[in-house]
Amino acid sequence: MSDTVTSRLAGFHKLPLEERLARIGQMFRLTEAELDQLRGENGLDLSIANQMIENAVGTFSLPLGLGLNLNVNGRDYLVPMAVEEPSVVAAVSFASKIVRESGGFYAEADESMMIGQVQVSNYGDPGRASEKILDAKDEILALANSFHPAMVARGGGAKDVEVRLLPAPEGPRGEPLLIVHLLIDAQEAMGANLINTMAEGVAPLIEQLTGGRVYLRILSNLADKRLARATCRIPLPLLADFGLPGEVIAEGIAQASRFAEADPYRAATHNKGVMNGIDAVAIATGQDWRSIEAGAHAFACRKGQYRPLSTWYLEEGHLVGRIELPLALGLVGGPIKIHPGAQVALKLMRATSVRELSMVFAAVGLAQNFAALRALGSVGIQKGHMAMHARSVAVTAGARGGDVEKVANLLVKAGHVKVEKAREILANLPPEPPAVATLTNG
Ligand code: MEV
Repeated sequence: MSDTVTSRLAGFHKLPLEERLARIGQMFRLTEAELDQLRGENGLDLSIANQMIENAVGTFSLPLGLGLNLNVNGRDYLVPMAVEEPSVVAAVSFASKIVRESGGFYAEADESMMIGQVQVSNYGDPGRASEKILDAKDEILALANSFHPAMVARGGGAKDVEVRLLPAPEGPRGEPLLIVHLLIDAQEAMGANLINTMAEGVAPLIEQLTGGRVYLRILSNLADKRLARATCRIPLPLLADFGLPGEVIAEGIAQASRFAEADPYRAATHNKGVMNGIDAVAIATGQDWRSIEAGAHAFACRKGQYRPLSTWYLEEGHLVGRIELPLALGLVGGPIKIHPGAQVALKLMRATSVRELSMVFAAVGLAQNFAALRALGSVGIQKGHMAMHARSVAVTAGARGGDVEKVANLLVKAGHVKVEKAREILANLPPEPPAVATLTNG
């Protein structure tokens, strides 16, 4: 299939929806059931939803779009994105087109090493307790791995034990916190269940070794041993836009990066833009996006100040962008297995390993960020955003079919993108010319 898949689908957004589906269906050899899944006609069954959460009363839909033009490490990806914000999918497609013309994104990802934390208290002497744990490393690892032999057989499982002594928060006891880290390779899974089982499973042994008492036994979402990185390098002339030369656009992006590096108030918004892309693809592909969010923001603080996950600078006639963040993703387990929508999205994504998936996620985050900074550092985002926003305002006002675009255009022209204005415009639209009837003999 790989030979027939291209993410460069010129004019895709102008095709009627059914034609877009037909094109994708053909390219990915989707079944009718999978196409219905995309159409939302075969969505998450209520009975499955009922098994997934408590007090289920229904299901909830979001628009699913395809980010186009993405090329990572020489391979094309069509990126399924579930998101309500109008500009997100267009931004990734736009940015990826420019990066593609510059040779595409280069990305890499670490092994799937996760951290399980075990908190020990009342252990007596900190040095001695730490020593006891480290001396029993092999025993602890063997015990942890006994809870998941299948993962061990696949080459994963608990690999190492670390001990951390942390200064005690103010309080009467004064004992340093003793935290044991179990380093666990989750392979193709996100790993939450595996890690929590192992962390809980080794707790009695740790109590026995230290004479202390274990409290929390849980994974850490700061998955900083499971990082993904992406870079791109864009020749300045390719950046020219809005009637401005590439140098000016690039300088605006580099300035935006400096701002985010210096100021947590800006870094938060910068990273929100990065996560616009990453969350959308995470939701579409059935990932635990809260854990991705938690990991990303904790990682952004690792040097003691909240910083941007991506940076941009000028180098030898190029704009260079880099992103690095923890990505605890899964291709197996969790909702992926039971959510039919996630399965179709993963089929479109066609990542053959969780590391490949992480690389695509990182590239999507960098693409999304590029698109935002390019506008912010030059003409501002409102112009582009307003055009997109106008379409949803037109739909809210009741426009359908070809009227949506007409109302949206008139809203932007009027400089007043509000539902009341859209209703007024809609009411005054000239009627469509009658369709020409086709006479048949039957
Ligand atoms: C809006 O959803 C995201 C932006 O605010 C990101 C940014 O400011 O970099 C445009």
